[in-house]
Amino acid sequence: MFDLSAYNTFNLTVYAQSGRVIAVPEDLEQPVSGPFIILGGGSDVLFTEDFAGTVLINRIGGIELGPKLDPEGHPSSDESQASHIMVRVGGGVLLDELIATLIEHGICGLENLSLIPGTVGAAPIQNVGAYGVEIGDLIATVEARDVFSGKQITLTQEQCRFGYRSSIFKEQGWSTLFITHVTFKLPLNFEPRVNYAGLQSCEFKNAAALRERVIALRNEKLPNPKYVGNAGSFFKNPYVSAERVAELKAQYQEVPCYPQSNGSYKLAAGWLIDKANCRGIKHGQVGTWGKQALVIVNLGGAKPHEVVALAKYVSAEVRNKFALDLVPEVRLYGKHGELSWDQI
Ligand code: EPU
Repeated sequence: MFDLSAYNTFNLTVYAQSGRVIAVPEDLEQPVSGPFIILGGGSDVLFTEDFAGTVLINRIGGIELGPKLDPEGHPSSDESQASHIMVRVGGGVLLDELIATLIEHGICGLENLSLIPGTVGAAPIQNVGAYGVEIGDLIATVEARDVFSGKQITLTQEQCRFGYRSSIFKEQGWSTLFITHVTFKLPLNFEPRVNYAGLQSCEFKNAAALRERVIALRNEKLPNPKYVGNAGSFFKNPYVSAERVAELKAQYQEVPCYPQSNGSYKLAAGWLIDKANCRGIKHGQVGTWGKQALVIVNLGGAKPHEVVALAKYVSAEVRNKFALDLVPEVRLYGKHGELSWDQI
């Protein structure tokens, strides 16, 4: 039995049949047999019970800087003309450690994603995003190895099919890929992305200052998984039609909604949960966070079924109040592998 309590940020005591730490791509040469799950930081998963298979833990390291590119995208021989740099990173590197290292080297672009827990290899899978930046926009290529056949492939940004908290890696038939490296194309000049509330009225002189502000914003609202077990936003923000938004606005003038290019609107799941009176609730050892209702927290010693029960309760309350179905953003795993929301 392989203890997963140190490998899931919900801090649940769950076990896998076996576990293997992958430190270099060659560690995948020994083929996997039977059901398996790949874990990075375990910060976006909920184990609903023990897993009857093998867990592969991505700890592939390394941050390779270069080459530098000119504004046309060609390798730049003249340092002063360089506008971007390619950075190839091992899938097991922690995203926040990467961001800190990049800033030390004068490399920008990822600072809005500061303090997001988890690894670089996990980030493209759900196209992590925060404060107006999605990681997929800065990814040039993703290298992955099929855990059964050992075949190595490289996908371009376009082939990754990045969307809101989605990518090809979540699609059926692509789940046997283990992400070994991610290559980013990043700006050398600071181009602040400050459209998001909380960043708008600020002036930042460099990426380090913006990073500091994002860290402060996250610390204000989100529980640190080091101290309080959680997996970040539990549900995705739902998309609705303009008519639905108009109906909601008639009742709640202040409803936060974000227009999309296709005419639909993104609503804030946290706001819906809050309005359904589910912010800061506690059911036994599980609750929702008082400062951000979208985060489900383990208050200490919670059991997987208690987390599931609270998530089901919250979604039922939102459905009763708004006739909207919330869908988890975290990935759910049961005895035999990944489960859909309807299966738990
Ligand atoms: N709100 C409430 N009550 C709450 C929570 C939120 O009224 O309890 C309102 C806020 O006042 C705000 C709106 O809802 O008007 C949106 O809330 P917030 O700005 O906190 O962001 P979010 O939409 O809840 C998303 C991501 C987060 C990311 C933040 C910041 C999703 C599912 N979540 O949250 O990502 O950090 O934006 O960019 O897209 C994660 O994926 O795990 C995650 C934490």
